[in-house]
Amino acid sequence: MTRSMSDRTVLITGASSGIGAACARHFAESGARLILTARRKEKLQILADQLQQSQSVETLLLPLDVQQADAVAIAIAGLPTDWQAIDVLVNNAGLSRGLDKQYESPLQDWEEMIDTNVKGLLYVTRSVVPGMVMRGRGHVVNIGSIAARQVYPGGSVYCATKAAVKSISEGLKMDLLGTAVRVTNIEPGLVETEFSEVRFRGDGERAKSVYEGMTPLTPGDIADTILFAVTRPAHVNISEIFVMPTDQSSVSQVHRRSA
Ligand SMILES: NC(=O)c1ccc[n+]([C@@H]2O[C@H](COP(=O)([O-])OP(=O)(O)OC[C@H]3O[C@@H](n4cnc5c(N)ncnc54)[C@H](OP(=O)(O)O)[C@@H]3O)[C@@H](O)[C@H]2O)c1
Repeated sequence: MTRSMSDRTVLITGASSGIGAACARHFAESGARLILTARRKEKLQILADQLQQSQSVETLLLPLDVQQADAVAIAIAGLPTDWQAIDVLVNNAGLSRGLDKQYESPLQDWEEMIDTNVKGLLYVTRSVVPGMVMRGRGHVVNIGSIAARQVYPGGSVYCATKAAVKSISEGLKMDLLGTAVRVTNIEPGLVETEFSEVRFRGDGERAKSVYEGMTPLTPGDIADTILFAVTRPAHVNISEIFVMPTDQSSVSQVHRRSA
């Protein structure tokens, strides 16, 4: 089965780190041209330079805060003509903030998670999908989470945003019925990225403890799964993939080896 994405244009949100950066590397290896977006332009530039050197891949950097509806619409509408035909959208930008009890949590944390994980994903989708429908081809990959399936203490709002991603993915598939555009929702368990550092606002020790004594998924494992989904034949829509580390069986059950 081919995994070539030769000459396909792929837009990845949250490409400056973790799963998004790994997607950029995997798609580059498969021959795609990449639109890389995130807020940290310098990180995108480093990644683009690496990809240029290793794969001679064509990249376009689109520094963007997905929380800003107007900026998203203007950036996508303003893409150079030869970058407008996006074949694959990977809606990956997302974050969690804190593990406070729901009734004690700072409102700012909720707003950031909802504005990024739910509204940001919708804004990008709204700007990209009409072109896919018009061209009669395209694939939207949303990054959900195990958190959509199981809630954990202190995680209710993050979990709610990922449950929203599940509903948004299912609803988009319904609204696209009769077109050739496909929709996939990827739901990872623990993946070692900057995710926990962001959640704990740079507390490296606390972030590290999340993965202590266990083998988490790598960002490359998820990128590989995404590449699998988007390289199936045009009549095959992989609607959902739930990927766990072998050392994890639920949000709260993780097998840890003592040192
Ligand atoms: N790690 C896990 O265990 C895990 C498990 C399940 C699901 N996920 C999901 O996987 C996705 C990727 O997370 P990750 O684990 O790779 O974490 P990460 O390493 O922290 O990467 C998050 C990415 O999202 C971008 N981002 C955050 N807010 C943004 C905004 N307002 N506008 C544009 N880009 C924004 C960040 O870029 P900038 O800061 O440069 O903007 C970064 O590139 C997220 O949706 C996350 O919820 C992660």
